[in-house]
Amino acid sequence: MPHADSVYLPGYIQTKTEFWDHVHLQLQALLEDQRYWVSNLSNAASLIYSSLSAFSKYFGDSERAVNWAGFYVRGDLFPRPRICKESPLPDDKLLLGPFCGKPACQFIPVAPGKERGVCSAAYLKGETLLVPDVEAYPGHIACDGETKSEIVCPLLLEHEGSTMVLGVLDLDCLALNGFDEEDKAGLEKIAKLVVNSSDW
Ligand code: SME
Repeated sequence: MPHADSVYLPGYIQTKTEFWDHVHLQLQALLEDQRYWVSNLSNAASLIYSSLSAFSKYFGDSERAVNWAGFYVRGDLFPRPRICKESPLPDDKLLLGPFCGKPACQFIPVAPGKERGVCSAAYLKGETLLVPDVEAYPGHIACDGETKSEIVCPLLLEHEGSTMVLGVLDLDCLALNGFDEEDKAGLEKIAKLVVNSSDW
């Protein structure tokens, strides 16, 4: 099957749970070939964004569309430059990772006392945050003034008996209350799959 066909949504999919289970299956197939996180997160962002756009019952039409889907990843996990001058990788910022949508902020500060926005809060708490109205969220970072609601899910890795937070998976929506508990459950499963399918 051509890779692009993985965004095709079969007609039986009506509920959000069916939708997220389907996206999870498609992503499993896409990621089985290799473990490089840049590639895996790129295809995950594309699959999530394109599948949500095709799910017209909840997200497909222009007023309720998901306008951004992507990742912010801990700066010190990025590939180190090897050819040009070496610059240190920051451990006090999440850097923009693979995404689909309009251009977004290049980094998000997460150092204690300097943190700001929904992504840093989800990262520091290690918990998914559902924001029904971004304007009511203190410190929200408005990368796109059209965004009305948001969900941010941390990327959690179980490693040597402890839980590490590697970054976040962020979805933005043009409608208020764009996401709910079913999206949260589905997205957390997707985040787990992405983390466990990649080397960090
Ligand atoms: N709104 C996010 C910033 C990232 S963009 O939405 C892509 C925040 O408040 O952290």
